[in-house]
Amino acid sequence: RHVIESELPDAEIILVSNREPYIHNLKNGKVELIVPASGLVSALEPVMRACAGTWIAHGGGTADRMVVDRHDRIEVPPDGPRYTLSRVWLSEEEQKGYYLGFANDGLWPLCHIVFTRPIFRESDWEAYRAVNQKFADRIVAEARTPDPVVLVQDYHFALVPRMVRDKLPDATIVTFWHIPWPNPEVFSICPWREQILDGLLGSSVVGFHIQFHCNNFTDSVDRFLESRIEREHSSISYGGQTTLVHPYPISIEWPPAALATQPTVQECRDRMLSRHGLDPQTKLLVGVERLDYTKGILDRFLAFQQLFERYPEWVGKLVFVQIAAPSRGTLPAYRELHAECRAFVDAFNRRFGDKDYQPILLLDQHHNQSDIYTAYRAADACVVSSLHDGMNLVAKEFVASRDDEQGVLILSTFAGASRELLDALIVNPFDPSAMAEAMQHAITMPEDEQRERMHRLREVVSTNNVYRWAGALLQDAARLRKRNRAVENG
Ligand code: G6P
Repeated sequence: RHVIESELPDAEIILVSNREPYIHNLKNGKVELIVPASGLVSALEPVMRACAGTWIAHGGGTADRMVVDRHDRIEVPPDGPRYTLSRVWLSEEEQKGYYLGFANDGLWPLCHIVFTRPIFRESDWEAYRAVNQKFADRIVAEARTPDPVVLVQDYHFALVPRMVRDKLPDATIVTFWHIPWPNPEVFSICPWREQILDGLLGSSVVGFHIQFHCNNFTDSVDRFLESRIEREHSSISYGGQTTLVHPYPISIEWPPAALATQPTVQECRDRMLSRHGLDPQTKLLVGVERLDYTKGILDRFLAFQQLFERYPEWVGKLVFVQIAAPSRGTLPAYRELHAECRAFVDAFNRRFGDKDYQPILLLDQHHNQSDIYTAYRAADACVVSSLHDGMNLVAKEFVASRDDEQGVLILSTFAGASRELLDALIVNPFDPSAMAEAMQHAITMPEDEQRERMHRLREVVSTNNVYRWAGALLQDAARLRKRNRAVENG
């Protein structure tokens, strides 16, 4: 808010993302409110609450149309409005081509490089382009001034920056790519690689979580477009427009709102253990993610199996609670992963468990923030074993949840968060035996060592919080906006 008041006092802020921060669904004849499982939403919602702008997103809930005004807007959060949510409606056909097709069958596996083959269909690309145009048109329609600050979020909207630039040449367009950017060889697989780069370079700023992804992006532009790249200034000049390419490591609000209503750590443990009928002495490993093949869920289960094989004394005394929110369930890759995880867990529980003891609990439903924080607080260790991840906010949320300075974070070296969270036990998720040893290390770690590590982790996350992330992005946006205005005024 400070950056906005001091650096962008008269600026209108418009944010666009595919996923909306509040979903209204119809359940048993009643309207139910859901906050979706999305790293993007958990990072940006507090920012939008602070800066009161307009958030444009796809209205995907079954009751979303029932609660909007005649301009398709609703003031949110519903229990204490702070900003406007402007909902865009997509037909099933549009969703299939743009969201499931090009974004999640194409760009998602392409950018994560996790050995799931990207699928590129011409019809998906056409839908992606058309939907990007639809969102760009909504941005232009919502803009009340000729030079708003437009915050474009993620891989669903690579073409939006150029489309908005064409209509609002004086806008400051800040695009943040929440997932990794691959190297030019991998990126070259995409049949529309030039159009995607051209679209993104309509932005004033393109942000990634880490420098490595900025370098990959710049190298891709260098390979496929005629442009001038000034690496020392992190800038790309292309078609008369200069774009700044910069890392902005995303984070969470500090302290997280969900923490305020949590009971003590001991109560959280008691609740979790009694809810699942477990012995009060049971130790808990916890994982929290969407059921996604980039998250390494099966890989952590394989490591857990090795832990039991090597240290059989844990059988009966240790449980892995895996919260796995259903995600993109109509895509075959996600359905197959779900079936594989279920089959693995059933076989595992048959082998190591009995009717009173199920060593892996696969909780494959949507959980609200409060239940997720209870699980974090109950954990002896939290396992984040993504095969590749832009940042990973679960790691940061776990740290934020542990105001008792206990609990161990096991973190994949392939998550952007591993560059900051150096006091985690850093693991290679492709190496189950090393991950099993990290689990053993975590659950036998003395309290003093846990406290020292957690204390340092909490210092990092509390300082590098999401307001700092947004502040850095907006400060760069403000600087470019001032420069443009100065140039225009001669
Ligand atoms: C990742 C993406 C977000 C997305 C989220 C949930 O975090 O970067 O853009 O919202 O996954 O995925 P979904 O497809 O359910 O929105």
